[in-house]
Parts: sequence; C-alpha cells; structure tokens
Amino acid sequence: WLSESEGATPSSLSTSFLTKNKPFPIRGERANYVNTPHVIVMVGLPARGKTYMAKKLTRYLNWIGIKTKVFNLGEYRRRVTQMYKNHNFFRSDNEEAMALRQRCALDALEDVCEWLETENGEVAVFDATNTTMLRRRLIYDKVVLEMEYKLFYVESICDDPSIIESNIREVKVSSPDYSDMTAEDALTDFLQRIQHYVDQYQPLDEVAEDHLSFMKIYNTGQKVVVHKHEGHIQARIVYYLMNTHITPRTIYLTRHGESIHNIEGRIGGDAELSENGRKFGNALAKYIKEQNISKLRVWTSWLKRTIQTAEGIDAPQERWKALNEIDAGVCEEMTYAEIKEKFPEDFASRDQNKFSFRYPRGESYEDLVARLEPVIMELERQGNVLLIAHQAVLRCLMAYFLDEPSSEYDVIPPTTKNNPMCNRIRNELPYMEVPLHTIVKLTPVAYGCRVEYVPIDVPAVNTHRPKPKIPGTLEDELCPEVSEMDS
Ligand code: ATP
Ligand code: F6P
Repeated sequence: WLSESEGATPSSLSTSFLTKNKPFPIRGERANYVNTPHVIVMVGLPARGKTYMAKKLTRYLNWIGIKTKVFNLGEYRRRVTQMYKNHNFFRSDNEEAMALRQRCALDALEDVCEWLETENGEVAVFDATNTTMLRRRLIYDKVVLEMEYKLFYVESICDDPSIIESNIREVKVSSPDYSDMTAEDALTDFLQRIQHYVDQYQPLDEVAEDHLSFMKIYNTGQKVVVHKHEGHIQARIVYYLMNTHITPRTIYLTRHGESIHNIEGRIGGDAELSENGRKFGNALAKYIKEQNISKLRVWTSWLKRTIQTAEGIDAPQERWKALNEIDAGVCEEMTYAEIKEKFPEDFASRDQNKFSFRYPRGESYEDLVARLEPVIMELERQGNVLLIAHQAVLRCLMAYFLDEPSSEYDVIPPTTKNNPMCNRIRNELPYMEVPLHTIVKLTPVAYGCRVEYVPIDVPAVNTHRPKPKIPGTLEDELCPEVSEMDS
C-alpha cells in the first residue's frame, strides 16, 4: 500500500439526511442504488493537503447529514509501530517497513468496509497517499468489485515549493513522528520522505485508469479536472472542494443587537433594536473599524434587527433571506410561556427532540441546516466576512465550523443507529450558547478553526433557554432543588 497520510483523529458532525435500505436485495444490483455507500480515496504526494481536504469534506458531509468518517493511514501506522526514526522508513527497498505499511493499509481498508457495512456509514474517506496504479487497482477490486460500493478518487497535485514548505511547517513538523527533532531537521527529513514517494508516483491517468471516477485539484484549486463523476454525492463533493480555498482569512459571527422582542421574551418577529441593541451596533462598528480588516464583506438577514445592527459599519453589505431566524410558524412572536399555554404538547415535544421538531407551519433546526447550505458554500469561497444573524442560525453555522471528536458515533444508542445524524450534535446544537452582544471570531488553522469569543461591554438580556430536566416545563416551574442544580 506504500502510502499514508498524517493527521489527528477526524471529525464528523452530522445531521440526518438519507435513509438506508440495507441489506440490498440483490447483491449485484447494489451499485445501481442511489444510496450505495461511497468510498472517497485521496491521492497525492505527502504535504499536498489530502488530510486537510479529507477532514474538511467529512465535516461538511456530516453537517449536511451524510454520515461520513475519515480513515487516516498515518494513524494506523503509528498505532502498530514507533519505529519511525527518519525518512529511510519510507524507502521502497525497506522491506520490513514495506510489509508493515502494507498490513496497515489492508487493515484500514477492511475497517472502511466494516464501518460502511455495520455502522450505517454512508461515505468513508480513505486518507492515504495511494500514489501507484497498482494500489488504486487493489482498492478498486476490493471496494467496487467485491463490496460494490461507489468509488471516487480525489487527487491533489501541487508543484509550488513554497506551498509545500509552508504545509510542512504548518502541520508536519509537529507530527508525533518528529517529536524528537527540531523543526528544521523535521523539514529536511520530510522533504526527503517526499522524494521516496516521487520515485514511485503515478498520477491518476485518464487513459490507463479510464474506468475510475476522479477529480484532480491542481495547486490548491487553480485548475480542477473531473473525470466520470457519478451521481449526486460525487457532484456535491466536486462542487464543495471547488469552492474551498486556503487563503488566510477571518469570519466574524454575531447575533443582532438586543431587540424589543428579546426584552419581552418573544421569539421570532421583526422587531426593532432596543436602546442597548443600538449601543451594541455602534460598539460593533467601532470594533470592526479598529480591526482594520481588508476587503471585509458584511452579511445580514432580511430582518430589521440585523440590518439596524450593521448600520454604522463602513463596508459593503449584502442581505440574505437564508440568514433569517428560524421560522416559529404559529408560535411567532409568542413568549415561551404563551407557547406552553397554547400548545403544551408541541412545547413538550420540542424539548424531547429540539433538533427535529418543526414548529407547526414553521421550521425545525434540521430545516435550517438545509436552508443554510448555500450560505456555508459562499462563506467557503469568500475572504473576510462579518455575518450578523440570529440565535438559531448561528448555532447551525457554528456546528459546521466547530470540530467534533470522531468518537461521537460510538455513543449512538442502538435505537437511533439507523439515523445517520450524530446523536451528540443533534442533542447539543439547538442548545449551544450564543449570547447577545458577543462576537465569535473564527480563524482557520491547520485542520480546523480557532474560535475566540469577544464580549462587547453593552448589557443585554439572556435569551438562552436551557434544556429543562422535565420536557415541557419552564425554568421557574422547577422545584428549588432542580433549579439549584441547574445554576
Ligand atoms: P501526508 O501524505 O503526509 O499525510 P497530506 O497530503 O495529507 O500529507 P496535509 O497534512 O493535509 O497533507 O497538509 C495540510 C496543509 O495542506 C495545510 O497547511 C493546508 O493549508 C494545505 N492544503 C490544503 N489543501 C491543499 C491543496 N489542495 N494543495 C496543497 N496544499 C493544500
Ligand atoms: O429568542 C430569540 C430567538 O432568536 C428567537 O427569535 C428564536 O425563535 C429563538 O431565539 C431560537 O432559539 P430556541 O430554538 O432556543 O428557541
């Protein structure tokens, strides 16, 4: 297998999306089903962004509700041996290391199939270098001929030495392989390690490998070639990876300033800002000016409270209807107490499954995630952006940006196993704390995003209603012991 890709444990957020009909009725028919599991196989020399793309793609697919997991070969290798001393480990004439790497790759591929078969996985991303035709043929035989999954290769080609050096400095010198080396020695070693792969490397070949579905990404997206992609998942993967970029930038997220409805405890509606809300707008404009952010774009929803909040900001502004707050349908402009009184069953049912609960004639958080997908895609394409929106909207957006540990699937109880949505994110996303008058600053770093909360010193009410111990109750109805425990 001769190949691996480095990296920490992958992330996998998810929301529900496709239903599964396993087992397939006729084995040979499997490949014709639209919900046939997919294996995405990364291809490319070391330090070409394979792990970066594998993780990012996984985060996106899970967020739109396609249950996805990365299998990183570097982790398999490190689990079985600590024998990496230097680049000689990766020489093709190092027989002992070759045998070990071969075994790791076979184990990882077995795990890919096992996960797709038994855990209702939908997309497995095999993150290794897979740089020879022989290797890709073996994967094809296992994945397509034996398992009848769909297979799609994603190759990253980069010949810009400055990008490669900066990638090595950003992620490779801190790899566990180099814990005993200085950054400069690690850089030298990693470049030699790449050379061992260069000797064997066969890029995906449109003629000799004509039967394969693949995309090639040149120099971080300068050019993209797509060959025989099949079906909607592959089309989404191509579209997503074409939209992402690695130019450094910052995304600022904030809710609107406090509104009159917030003070009255009313949800939804299109209220004006309160006096403190206007003060926040001014303070936000001042903060943004002080940051001196290059080519900043400001996005708001169509609702007055976000537009008023952005009023004083000196930067191009755009309004997105997709950024409007969750539509509470028949409950719009009510307080939680009024909802409880008028629609007690709905109120209790929302507490039982807040993510999936759809307000009568309104929306659920699940609907909101689908509505926000174009916003995420456009955010990926953009540089610096300040996005001013609403509590539920920001919860959904932050769930996309914040990495979750991959072990989340381990905690799915058997009763919810058929639901591709990760249990943890289903439970946590709708209760995430996104206080008013706080800016959330997101900066992409290595394989994830650095998150900073910048509180602005203007008072505001708290609109966060925590999950009650007893579904359908309001906080002030709880017995004193429970209230104390909560606080
Ligand atoms: P290895 O085979 O050693 O595991 P890799 O190809 O998986 O290497 P990564 O660990 O993903 O490489 O490298 C991460 C770096 O790649 C990040 O600094 C990221 O900015 C950069 N990067 C992301 N996408 C690309 C791309 N398409 N081409 C080149 N570099 C990229
Ligand atoms: O209360 C402010 C608000 O933005 C409402 O407009 C919206 O219905 C609510 O927050 C969403 O939060 P939750 O889903 O916790 O009710």
